[in-house]
Amino acid sequence: MRLFSLTKEIAIDLGTANTIIIHNGKIVIDEPSIVALDRRTDKLIAVGKEAQQMQGKENDHIRTVRPLRKGVIADFNAAELMIRGLVKKASSRSWFSPSLRMVVGIPSGSTEVEIRAVRDSSEHAGGRDVYMLYEPMAAALGIGLDVEAAEGNMIVDIGGGTTEIAVISLGGIVSNKSIQIAGDDLTDDIQAHMRRAHNVRVGERTAELIKINVGSALTELENPPADFVVHGPNQMTALPMEVPVSYQEISHCIEKSISKIEAAVLGALEQTPPELYADIVRNGIWLAGGGALIRGLDKRLTDKIGIQFHIAEDPLLAVAKGTGVALKNIQNFSFLIR
Ligand SMILES: Nc1ncnc2c1ncn2[C@@H]1O[C@H](COP(=O)(O)OP(=O)(O)OP(=O)(O)O)[C@@H](O)[C@H]1O
Ligand SMILES: [Mg+2]
Repeated sequence: MRLFSLTKEIAIDLGTANTIIIHNGKIVIDEPSIVALDRRTDKLIAVGKEAQQMQGKENDHIRTVRPLRKGVIADFNAAELMIRGLVKKASSRSWFSPSLRMVVGIPSGSTEVEIRAVRDSSEHAGGRDVYMLYEPMAAALGIGLDVEAAEGNMIVDIGGGTTEIAVISLGGIVSNKSIQIAGDDLTDDIQAHMRRAHNVRVGERTAELIKINVGSALTELENPPADFVVHGPNQMTALPMEVPVSYQEISHCIEKSISKIEAAVLGALEQTPPELYADIVRNGIWLAGGGALIRGLDKRLTDKIGIQFHIAEDPLLAVAKGTGVALKNIQNFSFLIR
């Protein structure tokens, strides 16, 4: 074992829903962004998957916290513990806590204070050299686009907390629009719908499973998924219920949120300068983030807007892969923020 060459390089996508860490070009951590803390001392009890299993099942001693809300750090202490915990998990076999060179993705609309919060938590968690880059830029790199070309590309990253729409050209973000409607809001829509329409109480985890299994942006799908059977207590009688849910039902209940995302994309196109607009029409628009996986979303947007929408390969990993690319090119990419 080498004891001295202790600088380790990692790239992080610190997302509202998921945190992904890349080391040596490989994904070493892909876990939900959540920690379980001791209520009394605020000490870390579990991080990532283990903490997620405790979600909704907390007791007097344990609480779970999602450190990010709407793409930004909402609980500084929890964020630091989470980064530290996940970095440790990734390097569980090394003896020393190494000093780290880190590249971290940040939302494109981040304020100075929000950028500082990411830098501070990363440094407190062991980062010595911290670089940041905007997430749509990272997504574009992860998709494999030539971000430095004199060519406009549009990215729509629908994450857990935010939808970010950006036009990239010549190694910079030309315009960006960010709305706070994304995957978590669809989950909330479904939770509220189950209560209202079926009198059944479901937790966040179950509502997310409904979304993943039968979520749809269209009321008619070419390859419809089978109904998803939900189990939960009747909110009046507390007796157990079994409710089959169809994709059509879910498409209606998430319609409002989906059309807000659609309107934001249209708004972003309206603001795009004409030369870049022409490039985008030619190249199509890239969908990234977990929200890109909602059934029929690409088709709906393509039909509505008349520009081809492509789903990034592994949309949940696009930003992380891009931070990994940035890590390898720290010296060359002028758009990295220190
Ligand atoms: N197959 C799927 N269908 C629909 N939604 C999905 C699917 N898989 C994951 N999601 C949703 O995608 C969201 C997570 O996406 P992602 O990991 O890109 O977000 P994030 O980067 O953590 O969040 P943000 O970028 O907003 O900070 C969650 O809301 C999750 O429920
Ligand atoms: Mg994200």
